[in-house]
Amino acid sequence: MSKVTVVGAGNVGATCANVLAHADLVRDVVLVDIKGDFAKGKALDSWQQAPIDYYSTRLTGTDNYEDTAGSDIVVITAGIPRKPGMSRDDLIATNAKIVSSVTTSIMKHSENPIIIVVSNPLDVMTYAAHKASGLDKSRVFGMAGILDTARYRAFLATELNVSPKDIQAMLLGGHGDTMVPLPRYTTVAGIPVTEMIDADKLNAIVERTKKGGGELVGLMGTSAWYAPGAAAAQMVGAILRDENRIFPCCSLLTGEYGLKDIFLGVPVKLGANGIEEVLELKLNEAEMALMNSSADHVKKVIEVYHSLS
Ligand code: NAI
Ligand code: 2OP
Repeated sequence: MSKVTVVGAGNVGATCANVLAHADLVRDVVLVDIKGDFAKGKALDSWQQAPIDYYSTRLTGTDNYEDTAGSDIVVITAGIPRKPGMSRDDLIATNAKIVSSVTTSIMKHSENPIIIVVSNPLDVMTYAAHKASGLDKSRVFGMAGILDTARYRAFLATELNVSPKDIQAMLLGGHGDTMVPLPRYTTVAGIPVTEMIDADKLNAIVERTKKGGGELVGLMGTSAWYAPGAAAAQMVGAILRDENRIFPCCSLLTGEYGLKDIFLGVPVKLGANGIEEVLELKLNEAEMALMNSSADHVKKVIEVYHSLS
């Protein structure tokens, strides 16, 4: 019997809880939000979908952290999303306080949970949650790479007119415009993508992917939620099923890729204990330069975070 808490019952949190319920692999999903009865309403709505869509996962909503007691996994989506014209980094002053206080509240009621951070700026909010939790690095990580690769894979599926199921890809770096999609590690049913598409078109897709979040903010006036919520739920599923899936996730680096004291997107093996292993790719010089430049950007945002406290 497992219990998953999702903090923040807004667009991403409610979607994540709903996708998780549909997967029917957890007994309890608790939605938490600071906004009075909001989480109760979202959870009740999702629970009333159970007889229609046939799942047994019980969804409950609350604004009281006592109800999160004994959570195995906690997904943190609390915080403000960006509006048109804002970068993810502009959210730091508000979201750093929220993510730290949410993590502290969670830790009062759950002994050794796994925490998946979604709030932005993602790499630095994951850093903040890790600090506030005192948990091992394998148990605190962030969701971004699954979403960013999903965007890249979806763009490729459209361009090549193939099923997105057949597109596999890897991506590194921070969750921002400096992210590093990796064409050299992208295949279409095992065929290197470079054999299927010309370089200019592939490059345009890489560039569109880097700004994929901003494209949606421009279209909707707020950031995305279907793919982000599903991506976080996919991570929860891999942990609960102890699958050892390989995903790009935001992980603390302790020397891998020549980097340390930084949370950054890298391929990891995700299983019952959270991050079971960080995988080190044999990057070429150009890829490593892009990774370093992304790391430099995240380091600057970490400095802003430290200047706030
Ligand atoms: P939203 O505004 O729809 O929902 C956020 C919810 O957090 C609100 O219901 C709000 O009341 C709640 N909240 C605020 N402070 C809280 C606190 N102290 N305790 C509990 N709940 C609190 O926003 P949305 O669209 O769900 O986005 C949430 C966050 O996720 C944003 O920071 C956004 O930038 C980020 N995001 C990250 C993605 C990623 O790839 N890592 C993708 C999409 C969004
Ligand atoms: C996204 O990429 C805003 O981080 C969020 O959609």
